[in-house]
Amino acid sequence: MKKLIAPSLLSADFLQLGDAIEMVNQSEADWFHCDIMDGRFVPNISFGIPVVQAIKKQAIKPLDVHLMIVEPEKYFEAFAKAGADIITFHYEASKHIHRAVQQIKGLGLKAGVVLNPHTPVAVLEDILPELDLVLLMSVNPGFGGQQFIERTYQKIGKLKRMIEHEKLSTLIEVDGGVNTKNAHTLFDVGANVLVAGNAVFKSENPIETIHQLKQ
Ligand code: DX5
Ligand code: ZN
Repeated sequence: MKKLIAPSLLSADFLQLGDAIEMVNQSEADWFHCDIMDGRFVPNISFGIPVVQAIKKQAIKPLDVHLMIVEPEKYFEAFAKAGADIITFHYEASKHIHRAVQQIKGLGLKAGVVLNPHTPVAVLEDILPELDLVLLMSVNPGFGGQQFIERTYQKIGKLKRMIEHEKLSTLIEVDGGVNTKNAHTLFDVGANVLVAGNAVFKSENPIETIHQLKQ
């Protein structure tokens, strides 16, 4: 089973973004998680296309772009051009999930749907075979450094059973409040990719923290 770590640059020191990228390059981390917020879908604004473009110039690992924006379909192409390798968008932000997934795949990228904490995994039943990954929010999207919502363990288990039942290879990614204490259990119950912001970038030794998260 895959065990991947995707540090979220949202928690990095933006004045030293180059150093943060270099640290992730040198670490055992697998993806760069880029949190895009528009101040409409979520009550916060982060960074956008030119910053993703800059990250891409230095990153030697795939860019996992998490769109927390309304009308995400309008921006798939721009983020693909900026260097995204994976695009995930929110179930709650799109009326035509199937079409949106095909659009991302048509750009040559991996596609995933994100579920907010209140959205049941059952809504994905008929789209699951089309998805490369599902991102389960384990906090309400918008901010780093929030507390992990315990109910997520059950959601991972349910989604895992759906994926196995259909004999799919869809990855389960978990985002929000992940740390060295809960990472092991999250992988154990079926997560494949863990996003970590504060746990990595606010730790004394980020490289070592990434190593621990992977254990
Ligand atoms: C929250 C973002 C997360 C966030 C995670 O809206 O999607 O990726 O950066 O940060 P931590 O790991 O600090 O909860
Ligand atoms: Zn995220």
